[in-house]
Amino acid sequence: MTSAVFDADAPVKPRIVLGVGGGIAAYKACEVLRRLTESGHSVRVVPTEGALKFVGAATFEALSGQVVSADPFDDVHEVPHVKLGQNADLVVVAPATANLIAKAAHGLADDLLTNTLLTARCPVLLVPAMHTEMWEHPATRHNVALLRSRGVVVAEPASGRLTGKDTGKGRLPDPAEIVELARLLLARPDALPRSLEGVHVAISAGGTREPLDPVRFLGNRSSGKQGYALARVAAQRGARVTLVAGNTADLTTPAGVDLVRIGSAVELRDAMHEVAADADVVVMAAAVADFRPLSLTGHKIKKTDAEPDPIALAKNPDILRELVAARRDGQLVVGFAAETGDETTSVLDYGRAKLRRKGCDLLVLNAVGDGKAFEQDDNAGWLLSADGDETVIPHGSKAQLASTMWDAVADRLPRSQ
Ligand code: CTP
Repeated sequence: MTSAVFDADAPVKPRIVLGVGGGIAAYKACEVLRRLTESGHSVRVVPTEGALKFVGAATFEALSGQVVSADPFDDVHEVPHVKLGQNADLVVVAPATANLIAKAAHGLADDLLTNTLLTARCPVLLVPAMHTEMWEHPATRHNVALLRSRGVVVAEPASGRLTGKDTGKGRLPDPAEIVELARLLLARPDALPRSLEGVHVAISAGGTREPLDPVRFLGNRSSGKQGYALARVAAQRGARVTLVAGNTADLTTPAGVDLVRIGSAVELRDAMHEVAADADVVVMAAAVADFRPLSLTGHKIKKTDAEPDPIALAKNPDILRELVAARRDGQLVVGFAAETGDETTSVLDYGRAKLRRKGCDLLVLNAVGDGKAFEQDDNAGWLLSADGDETVIPHGSKAQLASTMWDAVADRLPRSQ
């Protein structure tokens, strides 16, 4: 077993303190821990006494390879109640109970975790999990607002099944989502300001499927990961988010996001017009099929000895252009473009031409081909603006790209938002 303060080889790895509060969701902290260690982080788990009633210290020690204690009087010679916070690159608390949030808001320090929260100068991410009544209680609302005003990131909880048979807001977000937020804050500590509070954003994601017969369709390789990252980051910046999703990889709906499922481009168009009518920002990140089979066969097309007929295609609507044409006063419309470039035209020039053609306010331009962007976890590109601004988006996670985009959107929103 290694030092009470940090693993000896920790300096080469990002050091994370994973605080675990005393709620039933403490068992999900094991999955958060596993994902963080597997992705190369040094993680020191600091549970509360309550958390240890749900999950034993041995589990956290085995998964982290580091000592686990809730008590500041263990290994006092190493001064862990000060050193853990001072040396951390990030503190994540998952689950953060109403009690823990209250203590953090008021600077109480009666165990190792609350001491650590007072000494940490790195980004702090609190991920709440509690019953809806507790989350909505004025005391908790006040404590959350106080913590956020100090720059602490208090994540939006998910909605769904709670401890018993009841459902509502207050569920711990999916462990994969917590890890994504943690990694985003490590890469960019200011990535989750509350800059979209009071803003309704409509985002499309994933690929459309254009049916040919009851069992076949024309589709594309979009995983939907970028659109989901946009939705996740917007919700964590305080926006009300409606995500209109076509076919995607196996992705969990981000916490705090309303999901609408669609299949074909025509269904996507109808859904986006409906949602956009009430949205302040509209983002088309979906990969829309430009064409659909002209006719839909009501039965499965059978193979015969004869050569098959070619598939006749009809043009799909250009949804982005339609949304631009229907734009409300002050509404921002954002498009995406994935370009390869060719012998005559660069990726950037194709992007500039597309921004003009589509008429949107912002265009996120990705270079694709050679395994770039599609189905990947990382992205890079440019953010082109109708006002002439061109920003390079450095290589980074799709959540980082989302943060860059939401910064540009927040800068352009009418001041009353
Ligand atoms: N888009 C759309 N409706 C379509 C096609 C695309 O709304 N029928 C949107 C996409 O969601 C994206 C943007 O338009 O925001 C650019 O998509 P892209 O496929 O690059 O544009 P196309 O107009 O199809 O241009 P290209 O000829 O380069 O494929």
